[in-house]
Amino acid sequence: MHQHIITIILAAGKGTRMPSSKPKALQTVLGEAMLSHVYAAASAVSSAVWTVIGHKAEMVQQHLRKEFGDNAADACVLQQEQLGTGHAVRCAIDEIQKRTDLRGTKILILNADVPLISADILENFITQANPYPLAFMSIKLDAPKSYGRVVREGFLTAVKQGPVLQHEQNCGAVSRITEAKDFRLAYPGSEIFEVNSGIYLADAGLLLEFLPQLSSTNAGGEYYLTDIIGLAKSKGTALEAVCCGNAEALLGVNTPAELNEAEKILQQEINTKLMQNGTVLHNPETIRISPFAEIAPGTEIYGPCELYGHCRIGAYSVIESHCVLKNTVIGEYCEVKSFCHFEDARTGNSVKLGPYARLRPQAVLADNVHLGNFVEIKKSTIGNGSKVNHLSYIGDSTVGSGVNVGAGCITCNYDGKNKYQTVIEDNAFLGSNCAFVAPVTIAKNTLVAAGSVITKDTEENCLAVARSRQVNIKR
Ligand code: UD1
Ligand code: CA
Repeated sequence: MHQHIITIILAAGKGTRMPSSKPKALQTVLGEAMLSHVYAAASAVSSAVWTVIGHKAEMVQQHLRKEFGDNAADACVLQQEQLGTGHAVRCAIDEIQKRTDLRGTKILILNADVPLISADILENFITQANPYPLAFMSIKLDAPKSYGRVVREGFLTAVKQGPVLQHEQNCGAVSRITEAKDFRLAYPGSEIFEVNSGIYLADAGLLLEFLPQLSSTNAGGEYYLTDIIGLAKSKGTALEAVCCGNAEALLGVNTPAELNEAEKILQQEINTKLMQNGTVLHNPETIRISPFAEIAPGTEIYGPCELYGHCRIGAYSVIESHCVLKNTVIGEYCEVKSFCHFEDARTGNSVKLGPYARLRPQAVLADNVHLGNFVEIKKSTIGNGSKVNHLSYIGDSTVGSGVNVGAGCITCNYDGKNKYQTVIEDNAFLGSNCAFVAPVTIAKNTLVAAGSVITKDTEENCLAVARSRQVNIKR
């Protein structure tokens, strides 16, 4: 982490090339917003991270608060109108300057739509860029697409004679960056294969001086941050293009196809690492695991399967296909059968779950619990060795150990206004198709007769029957 570096992440854009109900920065790559990937990398290398928000600003700010805390949300700068990347950085630095002494500070600028950027690459970039008042990261691509072209002096000399294909970086010093649209207009038939990754390191003072001088007379009609390179150059500033990243890690995501490309790259990287580490992945092309997940060696996962957020899977557990797990912790030696859906839940060791089990937030299962098909657990703890094997809903409950919940048992936790608790003590045996109208406590060793509607607490070691007696009437 560098004390003298503050990061600004640009996340105000709408993402016109990827229309959606959410802003582009919140589009996800393996379950994590692009902004989260970038934010995580940035916070590893800089002393503070500021985010420029604009389109659906509140949504982005809320996301930062949820994922990275109040400090992250408070360090947001609103760019009212999205007038371009240069304007975005200007909004940010004006605000930061009010709150921080920027003398001796360098600003690292990142786009929120470069989700595969890593702290390692940034670290490498900073090392090489730090000696310059202004530097940016360039990459060489076979297809430069919509990236800004890095125009060097050699190109400008050669193009006077006619169209130029500039493949190499050793064509003289950097002269400026020209955006793709403007490049095509200015140099038809020419191409430059060295492009701007959108990552910059600059002295704060330099940004404060040059940003107000940018103009918006270009093909996009925007204040381009990239113009600062040509501007600084013309004022005799020492600057450099540092070519230290790889095209995959610096992929800019503007379209759904590029989002898919980013996900595929990251997926392969994560799965390869897991397999090298001793996790068995069957059909890995269809297994999607978050970079924030921790999977122990000796675990076996069958695709298709998705594990998002901060999932943790203990050693020697098996997860069958068609499961979706979010922020869920699974213990060791567990069996998760097909078609399970878990979110914000936690299990002990040696549990058997599914097929078709659902764990909702704050479901906590002790060791040796069994849940069968069509069983939903919400905000409840289930004690050691208890079984809920078929068609049940357990919500807002505390279930002891050794409990057997018969098929079709329901805790009626909601009266339309409030939620109430159900307590089921150790070794209770609940017959099939019972309703437990909360608040209610089923005492230890209670046997509840099938089909009962339990509205009153039971007593230990009793049979509780709460249904009308059968009568057989002659036809
Ligand atoms: C930008 C660069 C381009 C570079 C590419 C790398 C400019 C002018 N161009 O192009 O040289 O090759 O990134 O991926 O900088 N944003 C704002 N406010 C705005 C406009 C944009 O915050 O007013 C944010 C966007 O949300 C996005 C980032 O800035 O996260 C980049 O904007 P985008 O429109 O994607 O720029 P590119 O065309 O990709
Ligand atoms: Ca972009």
